[in-house]
Amino acid sequence: MVESTTDIKSKNPNQHNGTVTLTQDQNGDGIDKAKRKLYVESYGCQMNFSDSEIVASILSKDGFETTKNVDEADLVLLNTCSIRDKAEQTVRKRLTNFNKIKRAKPSMKIGVLGCMAERLKDKLLDEEKLVDMVVGPDAYRDLPNLVKELDEGRKAVNVILSKEETYADVSPVRLGSNGVSAFVSITRGCDNMCSFCVVPFTRGRERSRNPQTILEECKDLNAKNFKEITLLGQNVDSYLWYGGGLKKDFEKASDAAKASSVDFAQLLEMVAKEVPGMRIRFSTSNPQDMGDDVLRSIAKHDNICNYIHLPVQSGSSRVLKLMNRGHNRKEYFDLIDRIKTIIPDCGISHDMITGFPTETEEDHQETLSLMERVKYDFGYMFYYSERPNTYAERKMEDDIPLEVKKRRLNDIIQMQQKHSLENNKKHLGKIEEVLIEGTSKKSADEWYGRSPQNTVVVFPKGDEKPGDFVKVKIETCTTATLLGKRAE
Ligand code: SAH
Ligand code: F3S
Repeated sequence: MVESTTDIKSKNPNQHNGTVTLTQDQNGDGIDKAKRKLYVESYGCQMNFSDSEIVASILSKDGFETTKNVDEADLVLLNTCSIRDKAEQTVRKRLTNFNKIKRAKPSMKIGVLGCMAERLKDKLLDEEKLVDMVVGPDAYRDLPNLVKELDEGRKAVNVILSKEETYADVSPVRLGSNGVSAFVSITRGCDNMCSFCVVPFTRGRERSRNPQTILEECKDLNAKNFKEITLLGQNVDSYLWYGGGLKKDFEKASDAAKASSVDFAQLLEMVAKEVPGMRIRFSTSNPQDMGDDVLRSIAKHDNICNYIHLPVQSGSSRVLKLMNRGHNRKEYFDLIDRIKTIIPDCGISHDMITGFPTETEEDHQETLSLMERVKYDFGYMFYYSERPNTYAERKMEDDIPLEVKKRRLNDIIQMQQKHSLENNKKHLGKIEEVLIEGTSKKSADEWYGRSPQNTVVVFPKGDEKPGDFVKVKIETCTTATLLGKRAE
């Protein structure tokens, strides 16, 4: 899943599927909830941004309306990320900013949600004195009760992980949306247990969401004029609905439940047919779980974008084994070859980690040679950050010096930039279908959108509007962007 850090902008509560109730004192507890304002900030992966929309929905029923102005907030929620130490440091630094605001407005309550909440639990209350509430990713339905505890002057914690929770029936409040693209969550948790990764501990075991509720959400987005849906999960290809429950318990299900189960290839087709006018994307795929049936579903439906984010993490089979990745270098290449055969113009991106324990210069060269062979369109690259309680932290020494990790990271970034530019140059003179997302950040006179392969395309404004599909002839490019003019 692609990570980013932005503030969630304010929204119009009336956008929210008619479920916002702003009656005065609706619980009869003397607290005027109609006037309560919620400010949410999200960090980390797309799933956190999607979860914040679920949180806003749950709290809207409790009388909260969202605001983008932190000073007027009664409740501030930070939806946090634990994936690397730096992500946690960013949140801790941000929390210190709230000291001053809270001094000016002592009634303001501060809650920490997401992966840091789950990882640190009530320790966070001791470590960060201004935090009033700690809520893990599976406990958001409990927020109205937890807020009640705050109202009664207590601190509140719920970090219980669930076997079933998928928030299937919650209609997200589309926070900070561009009105064009939306996330739809399809699985929660991860069972892969990559040895470096904290996610299985913070988000729990893998479970899938009822496909009917996914289709309903997609239809609703279509009716609201959205044009693009990204199906979200830590490991989307592992999606398996058999009536509810953990993925690992599928074998124990009844024959009838197994016979009527829905896998990811089927789900993709169901969504593609349900909303034929919308672009469908998905993230993230793990190599060991991606089968040819998924590739064929992508190839079969024009509205499923020819783009796969396929993290690999290392080019060395020795390191992949230590990472507990479930695929080696050769298996990864075989998958890449099948993708290129079944979906010839497929965009492919990656995640890569440098400096995993014991990584040698030879391992690093193998990562570079893997990149040379695949020639990714883009990638998200990191140096290894040891995470508490993971297998790697418990059993391996974090033995690669920081400057070596950083130098290797720099090597792979340089190589990726070279490949991105080479790939972008192949589009010069060609016509791309672009879905306009909004005004270019660099120029008010230009639109910004993406090609099906997920490359950013910028072109001069005419009489189009965000949400339009237009054909753009590509004239120049940079490593990250294609630039052109409308072709028709
Ligand atoms: N399956 C998830 C992965 C989330 S983490 C998804 O939906 O994408 C995103 C990326 O962060 C991983 O693919 C990995 O490259 C990187 N990452 C995870 N743990 C890390 C660690 N301990 N140090 C450095 N990078 C890490
Ligand atoms: Fe993490 Fe590996 Fe799952 S990177 S989210 S354990 S697929």
